[in-house]
Parts: sequence; structure tokens; C-alpha cells
Amino acid sequence: MTSDAARTRPLDLDDLTFRRPTEADHPRVAAVIDEWWGGRKMRALLPRLWLQHFSGTSWVVERPDGRLEGFVVAFLSQDDPTTGYVHMIAANPNRRRSGLGRALYERAFADLAAHGARRVSAITWPGNRQSVAFHLAMGFRIDDGPGTQKIYSITAHADYDGEGEDRVVFYRDLEA
Ligand SMILES: CC(C)(COP(=O)(O)OP(=O)(O)OC[C@H]1O[C@@H](n2cnc3c(N)ncnc32)[C@H](O)[C@@H]1OP(=O)(O)O)[C@@H](O)C(=O)NCCC(=O)NCCS
Repeated sequence: MTSDAARTRPLDLDDLTFRRPTEADHPRVAAVIDEWWGGRKMRALLPRLWLQHFSGTSWVVERPDGRLEGFVVAFLSQDDPTTGYVHMIAANPNRRRSGLGRALYERAFADLAAHGARRVSAITWPGNRQSVAFHLAMGFRIDDGPGTQKIYSITAHADYDGEGEDRVVFYRDLEA
């Protein structure tokens, strides 16, 4: 835990502000990514373009003092407009298990459904147990179709994103 996180005092979700990200948020979002993913090098997955072109289906959430507490970056598939995709979602490590991830996902689901999506997809790596548990709790199911196998006891696609880059693929239906 960083000194920044250690200074973070828990607050009710009611005290937080959810809003659309802007391009100006990119430096502060990018700055926390590797830490919030437990040291895994994830920052390159969120270049500035995500906050330039996908803001309408994405959210950031802040404390009253402006400190970032979480974010979700999602979009509607251009190739299949009935499908939404969640690129990244994260909560401040000091606030986890307080419903923030759920609150972010509920907003993204509503955005995607409002744009016509009937289902949403996401991926994670099989070793990310908290992400797997979170997605299952959020109503996602794990793709167990052709090409899947058990990896770390989770049904996943080996080498999904290149050699050694195994992924669990999640789907969830959305209400109209
Ligand atoms: C995954 C993540 C976004 C969850 O955020 P969160 O704010 O802690 O999630 P919530 O409090 O809304 O949890 C909702 C439910 O998910 C499940 N869940 C969440 N984290 C869990 C964990 N570590 N272990 C088991 N279940 C978990 C629980 O059922 C939880 O409900 P409960 O707390 O009432 O039991 C957060 O752990 C995180 O930022 N992880 C690092 C980034 C990451 O891996 N993102 C996902 C891949 S893009």
C-alpha cells in the first residue's frame, strides 16, 4: 500500500462523485494503474485515446477532495453493436469490497444497454482471482466453449492474447 492509499480514509459511496472521464484525467488514471493491479504492468493498456474517444460509456469516481477512487472504461462494439465490452475496471485498493466496483459496473451496464447492447463481455487473466470472483458476483458467466481449458483451475483460453497470455472470457446479458 502506498502512502497515498494509506492516507485514504474510507467514506460512504454517497460521498463520492461519479462522472464522465475527460482527456485531462488521463495522467492521474494512468498513474495508479500498475499499483491498483498489484504491481502488474498494465499501464500500457490505457493510452490517452481511451479517455478521448470512449468517455460516453466510461466513468471515474472521486472523493470530495478530488482523489481518484475508481474508474471503468467500456465501449460499444463497432462490429457488433449488440455487444458492449469492458476494457478496464478498478477500485482504489483501500476501498475494495465496499461496493464501488459494483457501482461502476452498474453505470457501465446502463450506458451500454442505453446504446442498444444486449450483452457485455470482459476478459481477465486466470491468476487474477479477485477479478474472477468479482465478475462472477456481477453476473458474468465464463466462456467454456471451444478452445478453453483449465488454467489455474479456471476455464480459460490459453495464449488468447499471444504466447503465455492466457485469458478468462466473460459474458453477461444486459436488461433492455
Ligand atoms: C475487481 C475490483 C474492481 C472489484 O472492486 P470492488 O470495489 O472491491 O468490488 P465490490 O466491492 O463492488 O464487490 C462486488 C462483489 O464482487 C465480489 N468480490 C469483489 N472482490 C472480491 C474478492 N477479492 N474476492 C472475492 N469476491 C470478491 C464479492 O461478491 C463482492 O460482493 P461482497 O463484497 O458483498 O461480497 C477490484 O478488486 C480491483 O480494482 N482489482 C484490481 C483491478 C482488476 O483486477 N480489475 C478487473 C480486471 S479489468
